[in-house]
Amino acid sequence: MPRLRLAQLPTPLEDAVHLSRALGGPRILFKRDDLTGVGLGGNKVRKLEFIMARALAEGADTLIVCGGYQSNLARITAAMAKRAGLAVELVLGGVPGEAQLRQGNLLLDELLGANVTFVETVPRWDFGDSLERVADQVRARGGHPFIMPLGGSGPEGMAGYICATAEMLAQFDAMSVQPDRLVVGIGSGGTYSGLLLGKLNLGGQYRLTGISVSRTQDYLHEAIPEAAGLGAQMLGLAHRPTVSELDVHDGYVGDSYGALTPACVEAINLVARTEGVFLDPVYSGKAMAGLIDLIRQRQIAKDETVVFLHTGGQPALFAYPPDALVTAVTT
Ligand SMILES: Cc1ncc(COP(=O)(O)O)c(C=O)c1O
Repeated sequence: MPRLRLAQLPTPLEDAVHLSRALGGPRILFKRDDLTGVGLGGNKVRKLEFIMARALAEGADTLIVCGGYQSNLARITAAMAKRAGLAVELVLGGVPGEAQLRQGNLLLDELLGANVTFVETVPRWDFGDSLERVADQVRARGGHPFIMPLGGSGPEGMAGYICATAEMLAQFDAMSVQPDRLVVGIGSGGTYSGLLLGKLNLGGQYRLTGISVSRTQDYLHEAIPEAAGLGAQMLGLAHRPTVSELDVHDGYVGDSYGALTPACVEAINLVARTEGVFLDPVYSGKAMAGLIDLIRQRQIAKDETVVFLHTGGQPALFAYPPDALVTAVTT
């Protein structure tokens, strides 16, 4: 598969000893995919290496990407497109009444000079024909558009996280780490699907635990095997996941996607104060809230070794009121 090598890899795998101590075990390591390097980094960089290479191979000159107002994918695509000499059209959606604050990712989109079209999306991820309409506008001015899948989550995006699995397995060997579990946030599910395909096809011995930030477990139980099965077929992988191989939790979403929860706020503050690492309020904060709760509920045992995949997203911190984010924690 063609790949545009723009990411700073391998990303670090670091022991989070102070967080681990504050929680009374287990051993926790951070896989720092917030440090992938382009456009302030995050998990989407790995996906975009493959998606953008495909777009270029198909002769595209303009990427069309959709997401929420504070989309990390939009920000990172806009930044990576600069490096690849591609134009970008961002189609950003939200439910009525949601603020379009010129802060965080949206501010960075502006600095990157990306064209932005705002649409009201109800339900949240239903962009209707707005992407096709923007593609028609690009064609009308002689351009060649490439519409990216939601969340960058097609087979190319999964390829990014199959490669990430190979990278981690090599790091586990080099550091003599034998993880029992890998924990990651789930939005569209592409990262989880890629990690699952990687684990099943490359021989990962850990359990892959996903913490949903938006979708229900029922939805993910249906959607992930289907999408990952298609990915496996297109990538020529022997092992296709079944629902019994999934471990996904939907108890940490709170009121809705992007809405702060007390547990997410605690996680953000605790990790900053113990490890000096910033989580984000939409994805990694909720994923960490799930990890902390599973430890407290003893569903994750004290003697396990857990790798937490930090997927980035920190610019969104600046789109929330400070009083809602800062809290006292007992460490
Ligand atoms: C920072 C961050 N973490 C995690 C995710 C979830 O990744 P996926 O959509 O592949 O499930 C996203 C997706 O937007 C993200 O931006």
